Amino acid sequence: MKKLYIKTFGCQMNVYDSERMADVLAPTGYVQTDAPEDADMVILNTCHIREKASEKVFSDLGRLRTLKQRAAEQQNRQMLIAVAGCVAQAEGEEITRRAPYVDMVVGPQTYHRLPELVARADPSARKSVVDTEFPQEVKFDFLPEEAAPRGPAAFLSVQEGCDKFCSFCVVPYTRGAEFSRPADQILAEARRLVASGTREITLLGQNVNAWHGQAGNNGGVWGLGRLLRELAEIDGLDRLRYTTSHPLDMDEELMTAHRDLPALMPYLHLPVQAGSDKILAAMNRRHKADDYRRIIDRLRELRPDIALSGDFIVGFPGESDRDFADTIKLVSDIGYASAYSFKYSARPGTPASGAGEQIEEKVKSDRLAALQQLLDAQQLAFNKKCEGMTMPVLIEKQGGRDGQITGRSPFMQSVYLEGEASWIGRIMELEITQARQNSLWSAPSDAAAKGAA
Ligand code: SAH
Ligand code: SF4
Ligand code: F3S
Repeated sequence: MKKLYIKTFGCQMNVYDSERMADVLAPTGYVQTDAPEDADMVILNTCHIREKASEKVFSDLGRLRTLKQRAAEQQNRQMLIAVAGCVAQAEGEEITRRAPYVDMVVGPQTYHRLPELVARADPSARKSVVDTEFPQEVKFDFLPEEAAPRGPAAFLSVQEGCDKFCSFCVVPYTRGAEFSRPADQILAEARRLVASGTREITLLGQNVNAWHGQAGNNGGVWGLGRLLRELAEIDGLDRLRYTTSHPLDMDEELMTAHRDLPALMPYLHLPVQAGSDKILAAMNRRHKADDYRRIIDRLRELRPDIALSGDFIVGFPGESDRDFADTIKLVSDIGYASAYSFKYSARPGTPASGAGEQIEEKVKSDRLAALQQLLDAQQLAFNKKCEGMTMPVLIEKQGGRDGQITGRSPFMQSVYLEGEASWIGRIMELEITQARQNSLWSAPSDAAAKGAA
């Protein structure tokens, strides 16, 4: 038995990929550990989206180098180091140059070849084995069926890559061209997950609603709305979500799924990035702020209680005070249950990094603080409205403290309560007794605990 430690940065797709890397390595004898210091292999599954994310990788590598040396000198034991994910894809060369003690560099579309790379790696060579091509073959066809159950709530990647080329974004370069997995493969994976105890599945893609999958031999091509309808038919699959969506791909079939499918949770992460049409155009988002407003109106007509989330970038090149005011206005108009906001980070090779007037750091910081203040207030108001409500919560895991467990509300809020580990996997009707900025709290009655499905 060999020990494998994986550290995951970035988005949910990386979380999914990390689980699959463990699955790929399991037949070769690797078992996952939480302790990097006794690992025989360490994988950093990295994110390139903003400068800070990439920098973390190099600082982590410095620490791993010490662990690797210690293992070799004090225990006569080899530790393999692999860098996977989007930094590996974008900066493979740089990694091998700056950190030659890295044994393997593997991209997001080639990690099914990890066992082969492990066989080729030579820790004494001070040279990395690099595999960052975009291969002809599709990794999903080569991944083993899941090795370990993935718990009550699991991710399932249905779509890879991106063809949108927003002018700020590295994803089309790190993940490659858009690709949709065939429907049968997705349905089969969903059924296996449910058989292993999963009750909630979040479909993933960088542009998940651009998914257009082949359905059977003669089934034609489905969109995501149709796929959700088919998934909702699976017995025991109680909850569905999907992320991340692009406004351009919110078609009517997908939106009406929010009205028609009780299993589809009333929560949607639909990033708009900015409220100014000038900035949206410069970002190459290919829609206007009013198009986004219309989509939200339609969704709320179909599913009045839907909770909305989004992503925002402040300080995009050329963003004036007026443009930023348009973002604030849009946020005020929509009302978000939660959201992520970032300072624009110039990424190498992207069109926006060399274009227009770059915005001063101080201005970016001020705008981010103003936006976050508004978003935080909206989030707290949304959470406060939940006080006194009773809602179904899927218990996912133990909480931070002893005797505490936690799960998700339909609206994606984390709900904490005192309870037993044996309740993990139940959907409990819980009364929300207290709302905080980032969480809800409940005190279940004995009746609620016993009556849980
Ligand atoms: N595919 C998704 C998001 C992918 S990245 C979409 O199209 O919405 C997640 C978020 O990171 C983006 O929504 C954006 O808000 C942010 N982001 C991406 N590139 C960035 C950059 N260069 N600087 C700052 N934030 C960025
Ligand atoms: Fe990046 Fe835009 Fe593609 Fe989202 S849609 S992954 S922001 S290029
Ligand atoms: Fe980061 Fe790659 Fe995801 S850049 S956000 S890990 S697709």
